[in-house]
Amino acid sequence: MQKKFFVTTPIYYVNASPHIGTAYSTFVADVVARYKRLKGFDVFFLSGTDEHGQKIQREAAAHGKAPKEFCDEMAGQFKKTWRELGISNDYFVRTTDSQHERAVQHLFQLFYDNGDIYLGKYEGWYCTPCETFYPESKLVSGNCPACGRAVERMSEETYFFRLSKYRDKLLGHFRKNPEFVLPKFRANEMVNILKEGLEDLSVSRTKISWGIPCPFDKRHVVYVWFDALINYLSAAGYPHDMKKFSHYWPADLHVIGKDILKFHSIIWPAMLMSANMQLPRTVFAHGWLTVREEKISKSKGNIVNPLELKRKYGLDAVKYFLMRELTLGMDGDYSEDALRTRYETELANELGNLLNRTLVMIEKYCNGTVPSQSKKNAKQDDVLLKALRESPKKIDSFYEKLQFNNALAETWKIVATANRYINETEPWELARAPEGRNPGKPERQERLQTVLYNLAEALRVVSVLIMPVLAESSASMRSQLGLPVPKSFDEALKQGLTRAGTKVRKGEVLFKKLD
Ligand code: MSP
Repeated sequence: MQKKFFVTTPIYYVNASPHIGTAYSTFVADVVARYKRLKGFDVFFLSGTDEHGQKIQREAAAHGKAPKEFCDEMAGQFKKTWRELGISNDYFVRTTDSQHERAVQHLFQLFYDNGDIYLGKYEGWYCTPCETFYPESKLVSGNCPACGRAVERMSEETYFFRLSKYRDKLLGHFRKNPEFVLPKFRANEMVNILKEGLEDLSVSRTKISWGIPCPFDKRHVVYVWFDALINYLSAAGYPHDMKKFSHYWPADLHVIGKDILKFHSIIWPAMLMSANMQLPRTVFAHGWLTVREEKISKSKGNIVNPLELKRKYGLDAVKYFLMRELTLGMDGDYSEDALRTRYETELANELGNLLNRTLVMIEKYCNGTVPSQSKKNAKQDDVLLKALRESPKKIDSFYEKLQFNNALAETWKIVATANRYINETEPWELARAPEGRNPGKPERQERLQTVLYNLAEALRVVSVLIMPVLAESSASMRSQLGLPVPKSFDEALKQGLTRAGTKVRKGEVLFKKLD
C-alpha cells in the first residue's frame, strides 16, 4: 500500500497579510510535500488561517468590520497568495469553518468529561500579540518575555487544562523519541522547560466573545491556542470523517517557527495524550527570517512582500534564495542584494547557461536531436559521470533530512561540473572540420556526440533534483529537453535514462538578465 505523509504549516493569524516570513514556513512545508510526492507518498499537505481570539477581534474592530467579515477577507488573501506562490497544499483550514468549530467543541467536552478541564480563576498577565498567558514571574521588565511588548492584567473566571499532569509522560516521550522535536538543541530547550515544571493552562475566556463557545458553559469561549492546535485534527477529518482521519493521523511533520514551539511540543502533545491520540512524529522548529538581525514582522514594520519579489525575480528565484540561503532551523538574514547575487550567478549564469549552451549545441550540431553516446568514455567524461552517479544519492538524503541548502549546494556542484565539462571538451572544436583533414572524422564526431549526450543526461538528472524547490524551472527544462514529467525522484538516481533520438526544442531562457 502507498505510504502516507501528513505535513502541516502553522495556521496564520489573519491580523496581518501574508509576508515573506509566513511564506517561508509555507515554502518549507511545500518543498517537503513535493519531495514526498515524488518519493511515492500519498501526501496530505495542510495550511490555513487562525481566526479567533482577542487580537483578531480588536484588529477587525480597528478596521470597522465585524470579525467574520474581516476574517473572510483576510483568509481569502492568504489563499490567493499561497496560490500565486505555487503552494501545493491539499487543504486550507479556517478555524471559523463549522467542521473545525464542532471538532473543538467535541474535544473540549471530551477533556472535561475525562476530568482534565476544571473551573478556576486566572490572575496574571496576557500578551495579546502572542495570545499567551504569563505569570508575573515570567515577565521581563514588565513586558512580554517573547515579543517584548506590553502585557495586560487579567483577572477572570476560566477553565483550566491539567497540563501539569502530563509533565512526566511528556519527558518520557522526548526521551524515547529523539526525532520528536528537531533540531535537537530545540528539543533540549523544551526538556528544560519540562524539568522546571508545568502549571495548568487557562483554556477559556469570558471577557472576549470572538471564539468558539465552550459546549458546557456558554459564558466562556475556548482559548485561541487550544482552538488553533485542533486544526491539525479537524482538517484531517476528526471527528466527521474518521476514515480519512485514521488514514492520515498522526501528522508526520509539523513545520513551525521557533516562536511557537512550546505550544506544539508541550501543550499540543498533552492535549493529544488527554484525548488518547497518537502524537505527531516530528515537530520541526525553523528559525526566523531577519532583516539586519531583526525578525521580519508586521509590528517591526520591516515586511517584505513575497508577491512583489515574485514579480521582479520570478517565483523560483525567491524559493531558491530562501531554501539555499537559510539553514533550516537557524535564523537567516534576508536582503534583496543577496537574492540578486544568487539570481545572477547560480541561477542565470550557472543553471540557465548550462541549459542554453547545451540546447544550442544539440540544435546546431545534431539537428536538435539528442545523439547517442559512444561505448567508450574518455578521461574527460569521468568527473561528470562520477558526479551523476554519486551526488543524487547524497541529495536525496539531504532532502530526507530537510537540509535543503545542502541539497541545492550539492546539485549546483553537478551544474558547475557540467559547465566545466563543456569548457574542457570544447564541443565547438570537435564540430569544426580540422584544416587539411577529413571533415567530420568519425572519432571526433563520436566524441562530440558523447559529450552532448552526457550534457543532456546531466540536465535530465538536475531537472529532477531541483523539482521539490524549483518546480517551474524544472518543468521548463524538461519541456525544452523533450522529457515527460518525471514519475519519481528516483529517476535522478538512475543513470542513462536519456534516450538518444529525443527531439529538443530550445525555449525561453530560464533566468533572464535582470535590468
Ligand atoms: N496562529 C499562530 C499559529 C497557530 S498554529 C496551530 C501563529 N500565527 S502567526 O501568523 O503569528 O505565524 C506564526 C508562524 O509564521 C511562525 O511560527 C513562523 O512559522 C512564521 N513566521 C512569521 N514570521 C516569520 C519570520 N520573520 N521568519 C520565519 N518565519 C516566520 O503564531
